[in-house]
Amino acid sequence: MRYVVTGAAGFIGSHLAEGLSAAGHEVHGIDCFTDYYDPARKEENAAGLDVTRLDLAEDGLDFAGVDGIFHLAGQPGVRSFGPVFADYVRRNVLASQRVFEAATAAAARVVFASSSSVYGDAETYPTPEDTPPLPLSPYGITKLSSEHLARAYAQSFGLDVVVLRYFTVYGPRQRPDMALARMVEGLAAGTPFELYGDGLQSRSFTYVDDAVAATTAAMKGAKPGALYNVGGGEEATMREAIETLERIAGRRLDLREGPPAAGDVRRTSADVSRIQGDLGWEPRVGLEDGLKEQWLWASARVAAR
Ligand code: UGA
Repeated sequence: MRYVVTGAAGFIGSHLAEGLSAAGHEVHGIDCFTDYYDPARKEENAAGLDVTRLDLAEDGLDFAGVDGIFHLAGQPGVRSFGPVFADYVRRNVLASQRVFEAATAAAARVVFASSSSVYGDAETYPTPEDTPPLPLSPYGITKLSSEHLARAYAQSFGLDVVVLRYFTVYGPRQRPDMALARMVEGLAAGTPFELYGDGLQSRSFTYVDDAVAATTAAMKGAKPGALYNVGGGEEATMREAIETLERIAGRRLDLREGPPAAGDVRRTSADVSRIQGDLGWEPRVGLEDGLKEQWLWASARVAAR
């Protein structure tokens, strides 16, 4: 098949593009190489991939002849109040609207990467997809807006779109602003890690290979308009994640305690029975095994500096 992956130089996008290429598909990556974190990291992620530098919010988009578009590009990170919100609107809402327009014109399926952050502090745990979304962060609001745009394009113009809500994905190449990446960096380099809040907030951490498997399964097998949670099997608090990583690394983290982050949710817990029933997908990699992989990858990079 001929696929486009937006955000192909990012964390999940680069793993996805590599997986699709390895499976024999033709993969065209698109990425804007924004400086939200060091673009050198994105160059490194994209090495070996065919990635075109393009701004989805303003450049011309032509998906003619493409079988499917994995739309993973976006402005990530839940700490999104203040002037940075303009980036979230442009890179999430506007960019997605333009991808949906171009995909409609090309009659190509889109798998759109949304986020567990659309739930906010959900009324039910584990959280099924039909729980009312009440995002707490501006970021979550732009992801939910993009989901609504997808639905509107499906309804008015027949866009074939599938929405995935990823739950805190981790593993090698995890974005350097995310908690586990910062913990691993702290343990490897001996630098401090700042914990926001009491550390009892918890996440359904999802290993990146599991996220990639769910994403390709959705492109192949989901019904048009489907919406799925993609979440790991084990929920852990930040303090539990620290303990596990300290055990793996055989060192203590230099832990500093800071105030809670605005827009942060207390808990995420994915109910994955819908995707399990429809596509036969379930998370395979447990937190300890996944963290070992992330530790091996990150500590080797620190050692090579
Ligand atoms: C993550 C991603 O960053 C989002 O892009 C994604 O959309 C979201 O998952 C998702 O599930 O949809 P989050 O779960 O907040 O968001 O993941 P982290 O940024 O790794 O933060 C996890 C927890 O650690 C949060 O409570 C955060 O406040 C805390 N944290 C983060 C720290 O204590 N210290 C840090 O340096 C960074």
